[in-house]
Order: sequence, then C-alpha cells, then structure tokens
Amino acid sequence: MSNEKEISRRRTFAIISHPDAGKTTLTEKFLLFGGAIQTAGAVKSNKIKKHATSDFMEIERQRGISVATSVMTFEYRNFLINLLDTPGHKDFAEDTYRTLTAVDSVVLVIDSVNGVEEQTRRLMEVCRMRNTPVIVFINKMDRDGKNRFDLLEEIEKELKIQLHPMTWPINSGKDFKGVYNLDAKSLVLFTANTKATEDDSIVIEDLNDDFLNDKVGNNDANILREDVELIDGVYGKLNTEDYLSGSVAPVFFGSAINNFGVKELLDTFIKIAPEPLDRETSKRVVKVEEPKLSGFVFKIHANLDPRHRDRIAFLRVCSGKFERNKYYHHVRLDKDFRFSNPYSFMARSKDIIEDAYPGDVIGLFDTGNFKIGDTLTEGEDFYFTGIPSFSPEIFKELVNKDPMKTKQLEKGITQLTDEGVAQLFTQFGGNKKIIGCVGELQFEVIQYRLLNEYGAACEFRVLPFYKACWLTSNNQKKLDEFLRFKQQNSAEDKDGNPVYLAQSEWFLNTEITNNPDIVFHFTSEIH
Ligand code: G4P
Repeated sequence: MSNEKEISRRRTFAIISHPDAGKTTLTEKFLLFGGAIQTAGAVKSNKIKKHATSDFMEIERQRGISVATSVMTFEYRNFLINLLDTPGHKDFAEDTYRTLTAVDSVVLVIDSVNGVEEQTRRLMEVCRMRNTPVIVFINKMDRDGKNRFDLLEEIEKELKIQLHPMTWPINSGKDFKGVYNLDAKSLVLFTANTKATEDDSIVIEDLNDDFLNDKVGNNDANILREDVELIDGVYGKLNTEDYLSGSVAPVFFGSAINNFGVKELLDTFIKIAPEPLDRETSKRVVKVEEPKLSGFVFKIHANLDPRHRDRIAFLRVCSGKFERNKYYHHVRLDKDFRFSNPYSFMARSKDIIEDAYPGDVIGLFDTGNFKIGDTLTEGEDFYFTGIPSFSPEIFKELVNKDPMKTKQLEKGITQLTDEGVAQLFTQFGGNKKIIGCVGELQFEVIQYRLLNEYGAACEFRVLPFYKACWLTSNNQKKLDEFLRFKQQNSAEDKDGNPVYLAQSEWFLNTEITNNPDIVFHFTSEIH
C-alpha cells in the first residue's frame, strides 16, 4: 500500500475521562469490535485502587499494565486505529497531558449521573489549548442520570465547548428504552449486553409513524418527537469542519457496560475523526505526506526489571515511513541511531515491526538516550513544538540519605525526570535539588524506584511552594536582577531555564504586578 493510503486509513486517538466514568469499559468494547480481543474483562484497568497509595506492589503492577496497554492498535472496517491509553489517576495527569500531544483526536467519556467532574474539566482544558477535536460519550444511561437537556447545558458551560447531539436517549435508568440516531434516522432499542457484532437498529424515516408508538409506547414516542423537533431546530446538521477545528463536539448517549450506543460512536468516529495531521515544529510545518521520516518521543517507560536499565521510548511518527534497521537522526544528541527491534502494539502482544507510518506509535528500545520531547528525523534539525511541561503543584527537597551513593542518586533522578515522572529544579546559588510533582503518589514512586533501581536512599523535605512559573523577559538585566533578589524563590529547570517558585497566589500576583518587564509562564514547552 502506498504511504498516502496508509496515512488515510489511520486514526490515532485517546479515550479520556474522570476515573470511574467508564474509560476502561469503553476501550474494551472498541477492542471487541476491532476483533483485537475476544472476551470481556481482557483489558485491565489501569486504575490505582483506593488505599493502595503505599502499596508498592500495586505501583509495580500498574507499571506492568500501563506498558501493556500504552497503545492498542486494532482494525475496524479497514481503518487502522491506534488507541492511546491515559492513566486515570490524577497524580499521573501530566502523563495524560503529554499523551494528548501524540493523538489527533479524543473521545471524552462523561458519567450521566455525575456529569462534569474535576478531571473532565482539566483534560478538556488541555484539548482546548490544542484545538483537539472531541467526541463526547455520555455513559451509564442505564442509571438514573441527570435530565438530558440539563446535562448538555452543564457540559457546554463547564467545558466551554458547543455540543451537537448525534443520538438522543429515550429516558434513563430502568426506563431507558434506547437511542434515536438523529442523522441516520434510526432507532436502536436498549437491550443489556448487546453482542459486539449485532446490528439491530430500526430505520424510522418518519417519526410521526405509529410504528414508533408500537415500539416505545405513546408517551415516550411523543416526548421523542418533541425532543427531536427541538434539537433539529437548534442544532441542524453537524458541520464536520467545526468538529475538526475543535469548536463543536458531537455527543452520543449510551451504556458502555452493555455495549449500547458504542457502535454508533465508533462508526461515526471513523467517518469524521481526523487522519494524521500536519505538525508544527521549531522551524516549519511538517506535512504528514512528506517522504522523509520525522517523529517525537512523548512517553518513556522504564523496564520493570531493575537489573536492566533499558527503557521503551514511545515515538509518534509524524511524516515519512519508519523502517527497521535504518539510521535516523536524534536531533538533540546530534547523533544517528538505528533500531533493530521496534515494537508495535497490537493489543496484548508486542510485535517487532518492519515499518510504521504517520499516526503510528512505536516502542523503541532505549538505553538512556531519549528524553520526552526528543525528535527523530532523516537529518534535518527541528523540534516538534507544543509538548508542554505543566507547573507542578507539590514541591519537596530531595535529601540524600547515603553520601556513598551520591552518584547513583544523581543518575537515578536524572533518568526518572527524563521519563517525566517528576520535574527537577535546582536552586540558584546553591545546589538544593527540588522535585516538583502533580501528586503525592509520584514522590513514593521516586523514592521506591531510586532505591530499587539505583540503590540510592533518599527522603523528602516539604517546601512551602505552590507553583513554579517559567520566566522570560526582553530585558535580561531586569530578569537577572529579579533572580538575584529572589534567590530563595529562584531555581533553574533541567534545561537551565529560570523559574520562580511562588509561595502563594498572593506572592505570585504581587511579583507579576511589580515586574511588568518579566513574563510569568505557567507551562513551559519542552522545546
Ligand atoms: P474508568 O476506566 O473510567 O475508571 O471506568 P471503568 O470502565 O473501570 O468503569 C467504572 C465502573 O463503572 C465499573 O464498575 C464499570 O463496570 C461501571 N460501568 C461502566 N460502564 C457502565 C454503564 O454503562 N452502566 C453502568 N451501570 N455501569 C458502568 P465497578 O463496579 O467500579 O468495577 P467492576 O467491578 O464492574 O469492574
């Protein structure tokens, strides 16, 4: 198949949700449709169970699962779909944000009972930053959920995105009777545990047909007619361009556990979801159909075996064709590498591949040469932009407990921060190492892994900071002065960029007001 054909049949996306909304269940149903798995229960939840925060076996088990499910590739109706997994736990949110840089669109799952939740809001913010096309799946319609109109209004308001219903439910909870497909003008009646391959929709050309009354009863038939008239009047037909630009999100209703409404979602997804897109770099836009390979690393996974420090770097292919054993240029190191065992991830098993195309994510065996954000090309020097580093929310000083193991500690913390487990800052005028994380859980992961993989014992001392802001200024003198003056609150990140560590919102706002020549950034781009 030609490059162009390979590209046009690829869809690379992620399912995102607040924990417990049904991401794992929906993933499993997608894989069943794709024939990638045969039985329910085959996809392991990557959720960290409650009360398991100190259980290191649990963390290791999680790491195992997240390697296996990082990318799930399956075929559906001749499309090759790459589904990228995102960790559900909020302490690993940064990992999720970075994964979102490697997809072309997302499916957002919302629990019909709980509506918009904390993580839903945060994830959507990241999608909005990148104008990522979003399809919404309102799940658990078999439960007594919120009023459907209220729910749509809540989602639109809270997530600041315009919605466009594609299906419409008839009741919810025990009275849930099914969904009407507004576009195909067909009705699918609710049956629990629908088989993945069944297609039992009833075409209803005219909603005024008595046939509808026979199927759902007079009362519900009339409500559906009124609802549909209202929706048609307000929304009209979906403009795919609005979806692709990230300003309108099509909405589906269903019940993932019952495999209900999932097929409608998947069929529309392959019809409208974007194929691999052109990408912005530090020098120019890289077109997806360019013949030369380019790609970037968005995730690094350490080997589970502490005796081997090798890791898997996940590369998103952006242009050209990746070939096994061919030399590629590692831009940051200005060195050429070839890969004899690149992996692809056909759910459950890792297979060595010969080639990969734009949209694909491959696993590269790495002995410590990669960092998140690294770019591979066929010689040209550029970096893919828009891979963000967010301000951490918890800061602690890293204290070495064993002076004999200083070297191991240094190496360990460098490698773990390269993997993106946490961010490392070094205080100006001293060499106090400050670790910034999104969640408490990461500190436990770091302490555990430093000891187990590097033999270095450490402890953490809580620091009174609440945010890190990256600083830039057109007036270098003013910036240097500021950093000198605020030595206690100044540090540099791993790449030597100056950072201000704020104690509180009040301090931060005061500094922003007092220093108009300095720009305070809440995210930094890795490049
Ligand atoms: P997550 O990955 O987003 O965290 O959610 P997950 O799929 O694990 O689903 C969370 C819980 O919601 C699970 O129940 C799952 O069975 C249930 N669920 C998913 N879809 C539906 C649905 O359409 N209707 C209803 N009523 N429940 C649904 P659990 O009890 O937490 O786990 P389990 O013991 O069933 O695995």
